[in-house]
Amino acid sequence: MIRSLPVIAMLGLALSACAQHQPPQVRGAAFYAKYCTSCHGTSAQGDGPIAASFRVPPANLTLISERNGGVFPIEDVMAQINGYEGRHQFGGMPEFQKDLNGPVVDYVAASGEVIKTPKALIDMASYLENIQRD
Ligand code: HEC
Repeated sequence: MIRSLPVIAMLGLALSACAQHQPPQVRGAAFYAKYCTSCHGTSAQGDGPIAASFRVPPANLTLISERNGGVFPIEDVMAQINGYEGRHQFGGMPEFQKDLNGPVVDYVAASGEVIKTPKALIDMASYLENIQRD
């Protein structure tokens, strides 16, 4: 799975013109390539070109499930990427709310609550879920 990452990322970029017809993880790959690689790296293992400058290092994003007892915590991941007003970001992880443009869809949370969520945020989380090491 890890070895196919650059291919997926490039595919995502190449197809971004007709992005809405692609599977969510492919659209997420394009967003990842644009906004995340500087810190988390193209490998998503936290080894991007500016990673070394952070006191709290950018996380290895292929091990999110492993750190969470084998379950991908999709809602926490979306919250972390989106950021919330007033939320204390203790590391160098930026908030991407302003970059998550495009359609907003109803996301049914585990609690049953329906939350208006940018499709781009769900796509981004789907991409990360897809690259978890098992
Ligand atoms: C400027 C550097 C930087 C950029 C750009 C960046 N991150 Fe991060 N990210 C961090 C740092 C540092 C941490 C670890 C500290 C923290 O959690 O705040 C982190 C943590 C995370 C975590 C939490 C992982 C965990 O298991 O705790 C997720 C998820 C994440 N980043 C996703 C992303 C995504 C997706 C993008 C692109 C949309 C992105 N990051 C862009 C620096 C960055």
